[in-house]
Amino acid sequence: MILLDGFKVASERNLALRTVIDQEVEKYGRAPHLAIILVGENPASMSYVKGKGKACEVAGIKHKLHALLEDVKQSEVERLIQQLNEDPSVDGMILQLPLPKHLDENHLIDLISKDKDADGFHVINQGNLYQKRPTIHPATPKGIMTLLNAYAIPISGAHAVIVGRSNIVGFPVARLLMDQGATITVCHRQTKDLRSHTLSADILVVASGKPNLVTGDMVKPGSVVIDVGVNRVDGKLVGDVDFEAAKNIAAYITPVPKGVGPMTINALLENTHELYLSHILNQRFSK
Ligand code: GUN
Repeated sequence: MILLDGFKVASERNLALRTVIDQEVEKYGRAPHLAIILVGENPASMSYVKGKGKACEVAGIKHKLHALLEDVKQSEVERLIQQLNEDPSVDGMILQLPLPKHLDENHLIDLISKDKDADGFHVINQGNLYQKRPTIHPATPKGIMTLLNAYAIPISGAHAVIVGRSNIVGFPVARLLMDQGATITVCHRQTKDLRSHTLSADILVVASGKPNLVTGDMVKPGSVVIDVGVNRVDGKLVGDVDFEAAKNIAAYITPVPKGVGPMTINALLENTHELYLSHILNQRFSK
C-alpha cells in the first residue's frame, strides 16, 4: 500500500507558491489577500480557519480573519461581504461553513462576488464547473484531483465511486473525475447496498461525514481510497473509512489527518493566487 501523503504534497506546493508570490510582490507591489469570515465558535471551523491562516503565512498570502458572533444578524454578515466585495485590496474571500441555522447560507455565498469566490461555491462558478467552462474549482475536489495527479494515478477509464453528494465535495468531485474520463457512480443516504457499489470502485472517494462508514470488506483490492471525512471520535480524528482495515486492501489510501485536509488548504491558496493574478492583470489592462 502507498500512502497518499497530502501533507507532503501540499507543503511542497505551498512552498513553491511562496517562491512565485515573492517574485510577484516585487513585480506588482502587493501580495494576494484572503479574507476569512468565521461566524461563531464551532471548534472544527475554528481549527480549520487557524490552519488556513497558517498556510497563508507559509505561502506569503496576506490573510485577515473577520470573526463574527454566533448570533450575528443576516444583514450584518451581508454588510461585511459587500464591504469586502468593494475593497480593491481583497482578492479572495471565504465564508467558513457550516453557519448557524438562522443564517441563509446560499444567499450569503451568492453575495460573495464570483470574482472573489476563493472557495468556488458561488452558483455561477459552480454552474461554470458543471458546464466544463474555465472557473474557480471548489477547494476539496481540486485538492483531491491534484493529489491523484501527484501520484500519477490513472483516472481515464477508471470506475470512480463517490459516497456523498454535497455541493462542497461529492457532486463537484464527481464532475471533475468524469471530466478526466472516469465513469462515475454517486452514492448517498438512499443508496441501497452501498457495499455492492464501493466494491467495484477503482477510485473510491468517501465524503459522508460518518466515521468508519466504509469498512475493509467494502474496498476493492488494489483500488485507490480517498477519505474526505474528519470526525472526532473519543478525542481522536478519524475518517469515513476504517483506515486500519482498508490499508491492507487498497493500493493507495489517504490518511486522516494529513491526507485530503492539507490538499484542500493548498487548493484554497492556489485559488486565492489565481484570483489575485486576474485582479492584478485586469487593473493593469484597464489603466
Ligand atoms: N466547511 C467545510 N469545508 C469547507 C470549505 O472547503 N470551505 C468553507 N468555507 N467551509 C467549509
